[in-house]
Amino acid sequence: MKLAVLKETCPGERRVALIPANLHHLAKLGIEVAIESGAGQAAGFPDQRYVEKGATVMAQRPELFSADIVLQIRTLGANPGAGRDDLPHYRPRQIVIGMTDPLGEPGASADMARTGASLMSLELVPRITRAQSMDVLSSMATIAGYRAVLLAAVELPKMFPLLMTAAGTLTAARVFVIGAGVAGLQAIATSRRLGAIVHAYDVRPAVREQVESLGGKFVELALETGEAQDKGGYAKALGEEFYRRQRELMASVVAESDVVIATAAIPGKTAPLLITREAVHGMAPGSVIVDLAAERGGNCEPSQPDQRIVERDVVILGPTNLPSEIPYHASQMFSNNVTQFLKNLIHDGQPQLDRDDEIIRETLVARGGQVVHGRIRELLQLPPLAPAAEAATTAQSDRSPANPNPPGSA
Ligand code: NAI
Repeated sequence: MKLAVLKETCPGERRVALIPANLHHLAKLGIEVAIESGAGQAAGFPDQRYVEKGATVMAQRPELFSADIVLQIRTLGANPGAGRDDLPHYRPRQIVIGMTDPLGEPGASADMARTGASLMSLELVPRITRAQSMDVLSSMATIAGYRAVLLAAVELPKMFPLLMTAAGTLTAARVFVIGAGVAGLQAIATSRRLGAIVHAYDVRPAVREQVESLGGKFVELALETGEAQDKGGYAKALGEEFYRRQRELMASVVAESDVVIATAAIPGKTAPLLITREAVHGMAPGSVIVDLAAERGGNCEPSQPDQRIVERDVVILGPTNLPSEIPYHASQMFSNNVTQFLKNLIHDGQPQLDRDDEIIRETLVARGGQVVHGRIRELLQLPPLAPAAEAATTAQSDRSPANPNPPGSA
């Protein structure tokens, strides 16, 4: 069984999907690894390190597509521009594993499906205990939460900690974290370590304890959140009237903060708008907002993806790929997650696309030429697959030999 690791082609992407330290785990599964030359270079893993651990290095990208499994950080959906160049190379029955932005770019999943490859989307790993070690979104959000605070600290014309010096006392910076999920909790922890006074708010009251255990203060807002959490532990959308009231109540907390780290998100939905332009105007000059949701519409009205905006002397950052700014550890975490994912997928030296396994069923987006994931089919306005059609797709894709000229590859 051969697995190929591609060099990332998305502009600015410095991570690599597999690092040398994980190669021996894959060897135990019966996997031989080929890596595209230079794939790990920007993350601090030169080719030689892979060779030392038994991988083959290949210079010609198209040759890597002869592998049974192709591994990337960003496949087409998560790399809408340059990712298209790879489309003609994917082959039927080949398994493609990576981030695919299936909910944001469902059309890309359909394009991938037409190649006949089996597409597995790592964003869809369910948040269940058994899959925790495979959860790339959590890993990457941890890094983003940390990095967001560092960016803010660099922009802020103040220091974070309380300092009593011969030159006088410096008061501690006040940080407000909106959304205490994975990124938010890491932002709280990092701000606390730097000595800031940290407040946080989340619509899921269950996170109050976690906020407090990290040394943050949970902000009370007179809002009825009711059933704000779904079965999977994610937030549910709460309606425009709720958000209007939240914006109103939060504006005073925003105004008193030196730094706001906005991480509020609802999976598969546009991010809720929580900081209006007017609320930004209420902040002191020199204050900083880092909007981690900028790519999904933004929690902050003036923020723009990957832009540094100055609105009435308040700096607003909207970085969209913070994990790539810490590529060594981001790659290490991604690679560990993928290794666990492969351990669940491969049995007796062969991948088992067993849809009775929740992790496989939830991550399998395309197979046998069709989009097979119910939620993505809905987004594409395709009817649900009848069980018989699904079984036929499965049987056909398992039987058909690798075809160098897949449909849609012209
Ligand atoms: P998560 O789902 O763990 O956390 C989001 C939190 O927001 C949840 O705790 C949820 O309850 C809360 N929330 C939802 N609506 C809210 C509201 N109206 N007010 C307050 N809190 C609310 O998500 P995670 O993994 O922490 O990611 C957070 C955001 O960061 C997402 O938008 C994600 O796409 C983004 N992200 C950005 C990166 C970047 O480089 N810019 C990298 C990784 C993640």
